[in-house]
Amino acid sequence: MIDLDAFIRGLPKAELHLHIEGSLEPEQMFAFARRNGVAIPYASVEDVRAAYAFGNLQDFLDIYYAGADVLRTRQDFHDLAMAYFDRVAADGVVHAEIMFDPQTHTMRGIPFADVIEGLLSAMAQAQGTHGMTSALILSFLRHLSEEDAFETLAAAQPWLDRIAAVGLDSSEMGHPPKKFARVFAAAARHGLRLVAHAGEEGPPDYVWQALDLLQVDRIDHGNRALEDDALVKRLVDEAMTLTVCSLSNLKLCVVDTLADHPIDHMLALGLHATINSDDPAYFGGYIAENYRAIALACHLDRPQLATLARNSFTGSFLPKDAITVHLKRLDAWLADHS
Ligand code: ADE
Ligand code: ZN
Repeated sequence: MIDLDAFIRGLPKAELHLHIEGSLEPEQMFAFARRNGVAIPYASVEDVRAAYAFGNLQDFLDIYYAGADVLRTRQDFHDLAMAYFDRVAADGVVHAEIMFDPQTHTMRGIPFADVIEGLLSAMAQAQGTHGMTSALILSFLRHLSEEDAFETLAAAQPWLDRIAAVGLDSSEMGHPPKKFARVFAAAARHGLRLVAHAGEEGPPDYVWQALDLLQVDRIDHGNRALEDDALVKRLVDEAMTLTVCSLSNLKLCVVDTLADHPIDHMLALGLHATINSDDPAYFGGYIAENYRAIALACHLDRPQLATLARNSFTGSFLPKDAITVHLKRLDAWLADHS
């Protein structure tokens, strides 16, 4: 029998919750800062890593937005995304749905076109070199206004056929999903799929709002849904995918220890949980490490890990026939490695 690490890396899987800006490694931060002539408030890579101790989501976001300042050119976005694809190809990722935060860049004067064209060229290259498919999720920053979100959707118009979905991220508390109901409805009218961070720090009511007022296709995180039995029933009945992020939950103090993580409870309840990396450069690991850490801490067995991988395909925005192909390949791989 292959060891756990080989099993996890070999398991074909999709990543559904990844902020591309959150894959900016400290070494890359220095390289981009140097080539763009941007000053950064750190003396060394070790200095940067030492700053990554977060008490909550906002602590992290402050550092994450500051880090993104080194991203200036189309080439930077291409290189950032390509480094991510190269890494996760080795983690068994065959499909990735990546979020990007255009407002983080357009508010600094970076053209929307440079951000998205850099990402799209890396996506095409990942398909060519790794056979990996990918999709883009345009995420609105929820601490900004509804009007700003509408302007961002308008800026995205020329690329709407290359964007799979819109999402909602940034500071959750005090910025309930209902603030974005109209912009999500407009995105749906353009044929985009919908996701939203909800229940990471925010209460179960925010998850209800994401379902009822935003009409999302997926919930990002969703941990606090467990506090509400009726909500759990709704999520199970609707087979709603939850994009759980194990190391993120640990680093942002959503759980005290990984052994306290409710992933096994989620699976036992019939919730369609998946495992993802969120912001791997900041939280200590890419997707395989997220699977490995939670498998060890919560004593997940291989059938449970296979369920998490299966859920990553059924919860993806791939066409139905592509999902069927991925599930067949997953089953074949499991038959060969059990
Ligand atoms: N932006 C990047 N990572 C995030 C997270 N975990 N929650 C909210 N916004 C984010
Ligand atoms: Zn996230």
